[in-house]
Amino acid sequence: MLLSMARVNRLLDHKSYIFYIEMINELEKERRFCKHGFDHGLSVARIAYTYLLEKGDMGLSKEGIYAAALLHDIGRWVEYQTGEDHAEVSARLACPLLEDCGFDAEDIQVILAGIREHRRHHDANLSPLGEALAIADDWSRDCRYCSAQTQCYKFTPEMKQIVY
Ligand SMILES: [Fe+2]
Ligand SMILES: [Fe+2]
Repeated sequence: MLLSMARVNRLLDHKSYIFYIEMINELEKERRFCKHGFDHGLSVARIAYTYLLEKGDMGLSKEGIYAAALLHDIGRWVEYQTGEDHAEVSARLACPLLEDCGFDAEDIQVILAGIREHRRHHDANLSPLGEALAIADDWSRDCRYCSAQTQCYKFTPEMKQIVY
């Protein structure tokens, strides 16, 4: 049985989401490293969801996990312009979007915390969603045939291995 993804699809059609993705695509046009548009969000969503499913520690609906992943980097374009940490910006921009798309207040708090935590890979006190987003963010990278390997600060030989 397929779970409903109606709220996630509402999010993808939201004019603010579309605007943020267009800003990121435009500002990353010349970027040689991983980009942060829709594809990246979708990869992170699928990996984070599967990871939490395997762990048996969801704490949130499938829709909530997908929404968090699709929105986790939505503030990248602001960081490019002002230098503000994109995890914070993304959480701020995500809040009204989640409200517009019908997520309830309790789930929104969990999703925003996860988005804020997505860069704290080494923090011991991450929420399950924050940990899943941080891990999925790394595991979503397709380093094996990347031409920017030698310039990328994220690249290690281990990054060529499939771990998930
Ligand atoms: Fe990020
Ligand atoms: Fe990311």
